[in-house]
Amino acid sequence: MNPLNHLPHALRAALLAACALPAMAVADGGPAMPVRVPQAYTQECASCHLAYPPGMLPSASWQRIMGSLDTHYGTDASLDAATVKQLSDWLRDHAGTGKRVAAAPPQDRITRSAWFERKHRAIEPAVWKLPGVKSAANCAACHAGAEQGRFSDHELRQPAGLTPRQQRAWND
Ligand code: HEC
Ligand code: HEC
Repeated sequence: MNPLNHLPHALRAALLAACALPAMAVADGGPAMPVRVPQAYTQECASCHLAYPPGMLPSASWQRIMGSLDTHYGTDASLDAATVKQLSDWLRDHAGTGKRVAAAPPQDRITRSAWFERKHRAIEPAVWKLPGVKSAANCAACHAGAEQGRFSDHELRQPAGLTPRQQRAWND
């Protein structure tokens, strides 16, 4: 939730243009992607969905995910042992810390985290099911910078098929 959202649009636009936007976007958009991402992470963990920023889950969740890749959310995402070790170590080193990400969410899903549900509480359940979205885990359907690890609410795109009411509730 961005406090600027409550200002009238014109004022908000003027404020955003006036202040140093990039720094604010990073602070706002949730845990950023680490500067150095192992090639294996981009290759192996972004073939079915995007490369989720490691800071969005606690270490315990990543270790469970990496320890059960053969039964990965209904699919088989197995990797050779050396790659599993490399990525597990990297995920452990960059896992989320701090109280927002401390507790492992149900099913070790980012999308079941308390902070995720809070940030997305204005989104009606039907919106997650739209053909252009399909799942809350499909971040890129609504976050234009998701592939680059950017989730600020200044870079949102509305999926097709929102009702007028859903459009108004979108970024409240
Ligand atoms: C063969 C396809 C495939 C590969 C490869 C794959 N995943 Fe997944 N992953 C899935 C599917 C399917 C889901 C469930 C998506 C949904 O519920 O919409 C998922 C979900 C997830 C989630 C939970 C998303 C949420 O709901 O918050 C995480 C975290 C995750 N994957 C991490 C990884 C990591 C780390 C790797 C690499 C080691 C990886 N995935 C590789 C298919 C894959
Ligand atoms: C159906 C569209 C949709 C999907 C899918 C979606 N989001 Fe969002 N997200 C939004 C909207 C809209 C907001 C802004 C809500 C607000 O400010 O009221 C938001 C806000 C956020 C924020 C807070 C941004 C800020 O500047 O405070 C983060 C972080 C975030 N989303 C991460 C994610 C991640 C990670 C995923 C995928 C695992 C995801 N979102 C999937 C629509 C979506």
